[in-house]
Amino acid sequence: MSWVEWTRDVEIAPSIYAADLGRLGAQVDALLDAGTRIFHIDVGDGHFIPPVTIGSVVVEALAPLVHRRGGRLDCHLMVTNPDAQIPIMAAAGADSVTFHVEATGDAEATIEIARREGVQVGITLNPATPLTALASVGDSVDLALLMSVVPGKSGQSFLPESIERLREHRAIVPRECKVQIDGGISSENVSLVREAGAEVIVAGSAVFGASEPARAYGELVDLAG
Ligand code: DX5
Ligand code: ZN
Repeated sequence: MSWVEWTRDVEIAPSIYAADLGRLGAQVDALLDAGTRIFHIDVGDGHFIPPVTIGSVVVEALAPLVHRRGGRLDCHLMVTNPDAQIPIMAAAGADSVTFHVEATGDAEATIEIARREGVQVGITLNPATPLTALASVGDSVDLALLMSVVPGKSGQSFLPESIERLREHRAIVPRECKVQIDGGISSENVSLVREAGAEVIVAGSAVFGASEPARAYGELVDLAG
């Protein structure tokens, strides 16, 4: 089932990068209870971004719990070699992968690898990357992710110019491709990014930094609605 058929008009996707990893299962479970259907998994390789973050073993550990309850694992590959990582993440239970246009010489070949592995695929643009970088492949991806911070860590401030960029991006990207935004989302800006066209809104510290992540998730859903 494609993202368009499956997703609601707007989805808040908690990024487990900001979770309390010692209590990850319980936190994911509580978010599933609150209605979360997409978990954002930040995969960093220590090269494309400085830290090594979350890898396939965590995806493998979460997949049974999340899939049993109807959720999906969306892996944001902040890695220099997405072509090598996609089959590993697919085997671990990823449902979709987004790779960075800055990291691939041949985006079409990377998309082809994801298709072959049976996962949905998205392309990601860093804040400094021109929107035109998407032009040749916009038709062949399920998701188009715009970064609203420089990727690397959770808890950074939203770059305000991202709102206008998002609007332009939504106008360029085909209707059947979901537009995703990632970085610095909070109760202050979630309705703004929604209005500017975001359909999948990633939230790390705004969810997991709260004393009750499930309640914070619900508040973001209400504000985005
Ligand atoms: C940044 C990551 C983001 C981040 C989001 O490198 O790609 O997904 O975890 O966290 P917040 O919402 O706290 O900016
Ligand atoms: Zn991310």
